Amino acid sequence: MMLVLVRGAVLLVGLALCSSDFAPPTIEVNLGDDPQLRWVPIFKVFDADFLKKTAQEIIDSAIPKWLHKVLRPLIKASEVFLLPEPYGEELRGMAAHFGISLSDIIMLNYAYEATAFCTSIVAQNKDGHVYHGRNLDYPLSVLRNLTVNVIFRKDGKISYIGTTFAGYVGLWTGQSPYKFTVSGDERGRNHWSDLWRNIISAFLLRRSPVSWLVRETLEKAEDFQDAVLRLSKIPIITQVYYIVGGARAGEGVVISRDRAGPADIWPLDPLSGGWYRVETNFDHWLPSPAKDHRKEAAEKAMNATGQEHISMYALYQVLSPFPVCNGFTIYTTIMSAATPKKYITLVRPPDCRITH
Ligand SMILES: *[C@@H]1O[C@H](CO)[C@@H](O)[C@H](O)[C@H]1NC(C)=O
Ligand SMILES: *[C@@H]1O[C@H](CO)[C@@H](O)[C@H](O)[C@H]1NC(C)=O
Repeated sequence: MMLVLVRGAVLLVGLALCSSDFAPPTIEVNLGDDPQLRWVPIFKVFDADFLKKTAQEIIDSAIPKWLHKVLRPLIKASEVFLLPEPYGEELRGMAAHFGISLSDIIMLNYAYEATAFCTSIVAQNKDGHVYHGRNLDYPLSVLRNLTVNVIFRKDGKISYIGTTFAGYVGLWTGQSPYKFTVSGDERGRNHWSDLWRNIISAFLLRRSPVSWLVRETLEKAEDFQDAVLRLSKIPIITQVYYIVGGARAGEGVVISRDRAGPADIWPLDPLSGGWYRVETNFDHWLPSPAKDHRKEAAEKAMNATGQEHISMYALYQVLSPFPVCNGFTIYTTIMSAATPKKYITLVRPPDCRITH
């Protein structure tokens, strides 16, 4: 699997528009291992001091110092009985290996929930093959050096695979082989002050962070339909868009989520011309804000490519020019549930703003 990922990267980079793209490291996490120990492979790839330093940097950039001081004892008081498993144990293990406190590693994991800007596309070609691509945008350059592909194994077999940041146990991007692919895009404007509401929602209402539901779905959903059902109705701590692609023709959807349930379901409709769906960070039934042209640019590029020419590489090209790929774009993932070995993530350079 690792070999395939690397070879795929070379293939794409050879043709890439952004010549300084690079493939992130890949680690294996064994779900049969004790949750406190299963993330240890991270520390074989990333330097523990570097991780500790960057974790602090991320927390400082996402949360004002005074709020950090208020949150720390509150989290500490409630953490013991309020974290759902296996994530609680995984975070405990992560904290021990990072050499930082559990409340800081929890804050680090919640900090990301708030501020990711993204573009996701699900598309079906003329032969009925479904492709799924995503850009993950985040205003923190150091994440480029924390990006990691994770292969989750169960009983020796690949259960699912995803892309995340070292220290973060949730997934915003992932694939369950031969079943479905999923990406998450932020919905609505979030602010650090929402973090407080998110944490209350998580701890008091026992709701799942957006990225934990992605992981749980990758692990448990039987097929595309089951995944869409789970991602639509299980309560989460904040609003989000879930974009899901299946292994068969017609299986593709954008789910607009409220905290308690779905606000809208927008499926592929290839027979009526809806052979792709582009989701950025705005409700598809409303006009995009005047200053944000990512959706229109991506749609224009999809139209110019045409359904007969859509492929993994074509989708990568659609996700490459400015403003779809921009100064905040950390990585691009291209995947297709029917051909899981071709899953590929490339980290983008900070100056990824090349125009056609
Ligand atoms: C990321 O790593 C590269 C190469 O090791 C380094 O040049 C760069 O400064 C690092 N970026 C950050 C933001 O740490
Ligand atoms: C893409 O093509 C569709 C169908 O022809 C059209 O409705 C839509 O306006 C086009 N989008 C852009 C951004 O050109």
